[in-house]
Amino acid sequence: MKHNFGAGPGILPHEVLKQAAEAVIDFNGTGLSLLEISHRSPEFEAVLNEAVSLVKELFSVPEGYSVLFLQGGASTQFALAPYNLLPEGGKVAYLETGVWANKALKEAKFFGDVEIVATSKESNFTYIPKDYTVPADAAYFHITSNNTIYGTQLHQFPKSPVPVVCDMSSDIFSRTVNVADFGLIYAGAQKNMGPAGVTLVIVKDDLLGKTGRKIPAMFNYQVQIEGGSMYNTPPCFAIYVSMLTLKWLKAKGGVPAIEVENDAKAKVLYDAIDSNPLFKAVAAPEDRSHMNVCFVAENPEHEKPFLKLCDEKGIVGLKGHRSVGGFRASIYNALPIASVNVLIEAMNEFAEKN
Ligand SMILES: Cc1ncc(COP(=O)(O)O)c(C=O)c1O
Repeated sequence: MKHNFGAGPGILPHEVLKQAAEAVIDFNGTGLSLLEISHRSPEFEAVLNEAVSLVKELFSVPEGYSVLFLQGGASTQFALAPYNLLPEGGKVAYLETGVWANKALKEAKFFGDVEIVATSKESNFTYIPKDYTVPADAAYFHITSNNTIYGTQLHQFPKSPVPVVCDMSSDIFSRTVNVADFGLIYAGAQKNMGPAGVTLVIVKDDLLGKTGRKIPAMFNYQVQIEGGSMYNTPPCFAIYVSMLTLKWLKAKGGVPAIEVENDAKAKVLYDAIDSNPLFKAVAAPEDRSHMNVCFVAENPEHEKPFLKLCDEKGIVGLKGHRSVGGFRASIYNALPIASVNVLIEAMNEFAEKN
């Protein structure tokens, strides 16, 4: 058995993978593969409806918000957020907490003025800036809730005089959030929600239709809402596997229950890093991510032999992103605490030998 610490596409629950594999051959006893049925069939419509209901239930989505399953990844949402929410001639505010936040704000510059309210670029994004003011004349304030590459996370969401737009790609459904505090939430599915190929969008309806610009259909949230995420052929399989993953999460007790598990996994792992003389965590302690635990070897020469030991123990996906180096243990919802314990044992064993 492998212990999958990969940052994304990330680990999915084994039982979800088994069900998905069965559906590829024979979907719910229909004698047809899920891959060869119409997206307009009652069978697939039931899948999509259930996926939407599960999102609403697991995240307690209030009235006045729409849930969409779109294509193009979170990177497409970097552009669609300003396309749909930033009025002609207006401005938006961004918190720059990493490469993804930077890519998001670059896309917004195609549509209007962008004010970067704060950045932690000077420290290679090892912390979340906290001292800043969000301009009241911005159309929205964009944040990235979890910075996958640097292992930092916003543990408190900022108070903002304008609607908050949040990229939750790498911590969606890992902790409770109050959806009413956001104007728009988006997330590529491939870390905590399902496979690559589908992107979740939760948007507050009354923010739409105010830009004064024409928006092509596929990029227009309103059109996608009216089409029930089926303006064109949706990513049926990715939606199905996401639905199974959300069902798995619900059976585990939902978001509050997984949050307790995630906090426990993060705590034992950070404690093990802090108490091991050979390793050092990268992020500022108060901003440490509960999803991506980034750490380095105090002696860079230990990096390769430690990865080799991990490989022998079936630990995969631990190499850090090239812009940070070292190691990154992604401990998403589906990763069992037993895998975290195997990593901790490997670290202890390595420290004893070195
Ligand atoms: C926080 C964050 N935002 C955006 C992205 C980009 O997502 P996608 O590949 O779905 O465009 C990633 C990918 O890792 C991410 O971690």
